[in-house]
Amino acid sequence: MTDIRPYPLSNLHATSRSHHDALSDLLDDDTMYRITSLIDRESFPATGLPSGTWAGASMLEVGAGAGSVAQKMRYLVGDTGRVVALDLHPAIEPDGNLEVVQLDLLSDEPLPEGPFHLIHARLTLGHLPPRKAITARLIDRLVPGGWLCLEDFRARRENIAVVGADAEIVEEFQRTVGRKVFDAHGTDPGWAPGMHQTLTDLGMTGVETRTFSSYWGGGNAGARFLTAIHAQTYDKVLAAGMDKARLDRVPEIMAQPATLIHGHEVFSVVAQRG
Ligand SMILES: C[S@@+](CC[C@H](N)C(=O)[O-])C[C@H]1O[C@@H](n2cnc3c(N)ncnc32)[C@H](O)[C@@H]1O
Repeated sequence: MTDIRPYPLSNLHATSRSHHDALSDLLDDDTMYRITSLIDRESFPATGLPSGTWAGASMLEVGAGAGSVAQKMRYLVGDTGRVVALDLHPAIEPDGNLEVVQLDLLSDEPLPEGPFHLIHARLTLGHLPPRKAITARLIDRLVPGGWLCLEDFRARRENIAVVGADAEIVEEFQRTVGRKVFDAHGTDPGWAPGMHQTLTDLGMTGVETRTFSSYWGGGNAGARFLTAIHAQTYDKVLAAGMDKARLDRVPEIMAQPATLIHGHEVFSVVAQRG
């Protein structure tokens, strides 16, 4: 029987480290800017924290993976703060003010005890069909005035190639893995652009969305990310009908300096619990 559990990737795969390292290189600067800039908001003191600093805060990192964001949060909250990194298969060890929780968000297991001043989830909820219910459970773990930051890809399924003689092969891979693997396993490409309205519907205030994206190729972080996805989904993409000779060439094409494709657009939404 086909395995159709949501999230077709795995932190237990040999390429998990390079997958997470590439995501960190690709996204952490923007993520940390979003989180740190919240302290300048007029409404920040509603968290109950002293104005202008995350020092002493409690933060929850959801779908922490290898924990690059959780590690950066530790420096924001300092020795008097607390960071909890949650994942189905955490690839990070507890250390000092960092706790690690192994938890399946698709189960009824209770979320880590809060309350938290900030909860962040990146590239995780879009994969999990009960995403709105999980979001409501996360909001429930925030202090009044606490912040939720959700970040997810609006996965590109068309007009992907930018330049490069063989970029159309990567385009075919991206289209196939997107539709036949991720979407078939429950990933919702409409989740990211809909997060703003979802958070409004759930009663959050000050909801704000920003988007950003980059070209992937020439061996850059986006190319390394796509190469790890290729390794982790290879059998499924082959079974979905992509020609093996073309599929085999994807990593080599993404490493070529002449190849550029449109990376997925990231939606970054921040909102405050009223
Ligand atoms: C694409 S990775 C993103 C990792 C990290 N948030 C980042 O953006 O770099 C998705 C993460 O969600 C985790 N995940 C997938 N399904 C999960 C579940 N049911 N419960 C908890 N975590 C899950 C995976 O193990 C993985 O670490």
